[in-house]
Amino acid sequence: MCGIVGYLGKGNAKSIVLEGLKRLEYRGYDSAGLSLLDEKQNQFNIYKEKGRIAQLEKIIDLNDARVAIGHTRWATHGRVTKENAHPHQSNNGRFIVVHNGVIDNYKSLMKTYLPDTVFHSETDTEVIVNLIELFAVKKTPANAILEVLKLLEGSYALLVIDINTPETIYAAKHKSPLLLGKSDKGIVIGSDMMALVNTADNYLALDDETFLRITPKNFTLYNLEGEVLPYTMSLLDLDDFSSEKGEFEHFMLKEIHEQPAVLRRIISKYYNDTDIHIDKILLEKIKAHDSIHILAAGTSMHAGLIAKDLLESLANIPTQVHIASEFAYQQPLLKGKPYFILISQSGETADLRACLVNLKKEKYQTLTVTNVRTSTLAREADDYMEIYAGPEIAVASTKAYTAQIAVLATLAYALSDQSFDLKRELSEIAQAMEHFLDKKDQYKDLVAATLTKRNCFYIGRGLDYYVCLEAALKLKEISYIQTEGFAAGELKHGTIALIEEDTPVIAIISNRKTADNTRSNLNEVKSRGAKTLTITTESLKETDDQIVLDDVNPSLSPLLTVIPTQLIAYYAALIRGHDIDKPRNLAKSVTVE
Ligand code: AGP
Ligand code: GLU
Repeated sequence: MCGIVGYLGKGNAKSIVLEGLKRLEYRGYDSAGLSLLDEKQNQFNIYKEKGRIAQLEKIIDLNDARVAIGHTRWATHGRVTKENAHPHQSNNGRFIVVHNGVIDNYKSLMKTYLPDTVFHSETDTEVIVNLIELFAVKKTPANAILEVLKLLEGSYALLVIDINTPETIYAAKHKSPLLLGKSDKGIVIGSDMMALVNTADNYLALDDETFLRITPKNFTLYNLEGEVLPYTMSLLDLDDFSSEKGEFEHFMLKEIHEQPAVLRRIISKYYNDTDIHIDKILLEKIKAHDSIHILAAGTSMHAGLIAKDLLESLANIPTQVHIASEFAYQQPLLKGKPYFILISQSGETADLRACLVNLKKEKYQTLTVTNVRTSTLAREADDYMEIYAGPEIAVASTKAYTAQIAVLATLAYALSDQSFDLKRELSEIAQAMEHFLDKKDQYKDLVAATLTKRNCFYIGRGLDYYVCLEAALKLKEISYIQTEGFAAGELKHGTIALIEEDTPVIAIISNRKTADNTRSNLNEVKSRGAKTLTITTESLKETDDQIVLDDVNPSLSPLLTVIPTQLIAYYAALIRGHDIDKPRNLAKSVTVE
């Protein structure tokens, strides 16, 4: 969600920060801004625009700055306007700030410390910058900022400029992510690794409640008491960041196509001829618990539902799945010795972080399954497993979902008596995915002919139902068609009232045990005028079925049945001319609760 980039050094600050912000675009934002040091005039210029970074770029009339801070905003306080876009400047003009996050107590801070201040935006952020100005009357800028940080409740990644010391950037972090990168080109600071690529060789992921004083060649790390902290930088591995669209029109389409390769990468990382590469100590640790609780949000939660099935059927461990934002504030009764698995593509989801903080306090053991090994959730859980999907840029998650399932299937398998060859099954699924994707062009017209209404239903049973939930989320988030995923048998208990002439109903049928029942439910809606589409497998197909996939191991079928549903969502959004990779109102990394 939103982003921050700052830079000082001998490179071109404008292009480094704009390039960094563009690399963060995938996280979602609604306005952008930048402040650049104009050395000739000895001042900082501020530029802001609603909408895309490309708009902002057009109004910047300074090219050769060596200090800059930039921001993409995902509005939390105040409308999407130019006035509310960052950077914000204190009233006397001395301090300039960009901020990601939410200050929960901004109103009471306003009342207590700034009763007479005139505000020029509706943001919580403007309170921060004016508080710094207030405290800096009697303190050094660093001490003034530290004083303010101690008062803030909520989350922040902050960059602060004091125009009296233009070659210094102050930075602070609590709950919102922030990383610092360094090379002989200078120092770059940004809200995720993508912003550091091309500028840094080494990086440091900041901990909560830390504060930095950065100059072009060096920086010092402090805690909020102003005490200097030691740190160790890590090598930035550029191979991990191939984030170009290549031959594809959209990142989403590219990422859909990458799934067979991701499955093969997971096989190469987790399997060799005789063994599975999962730490034996981790496996023993999990076995010492009597139940598993999976916590996640959105698509990752849907992957968790499939994982639950696999952990119960293969590893025989009772497993429950929870929506993170619910669990964080309404923890269910936990009996015996529960173990916690957090699933998150980004590793930054604030709802999950809130759960993790509580779980750590209660001394429960936690494992994060994530795509980003440098992420907050990977760092803070007791253990982490990487899903190796490579950067996922499109807001609509596709390859991360299948990668999460494949890695959790591997974990469940490693915890089981391993009575079949999972490695072989996964590679067969990779082939079946390719087989379907080779024919993808023929489905565009089918999607156009089926999805003619403003609503749609996906129905299925068992694992197919779980895939329906994910399929519905995917379709609604990029095509804006109101879609529900439904347990096929439950439809007749109320929701069938919504079926009318031409209502689209898509059935997923991949399980022999329930295939006939789902087909009956499909007939029920057909008789009431629904326009139906069936996704099934070779051995279960019937004459009129439109999408037929290869047969794979039924317990892993979601890895395959989800692929056509991703493509359906993609085509539905394409046909409607939507911004597929950056759907409205959404953010890739949801860093507010
Ligand atoms: C996926 O298409 C969504 N955009 C969203 O539901 C996402 O899966 C959710 O926000 C969780 O994100 P995470 O996996 O990074 O924690
Ligand atoms: N809360 C701030 C605002 O609404 C920052 C939002 C963000 O993280 O972009 O302006």
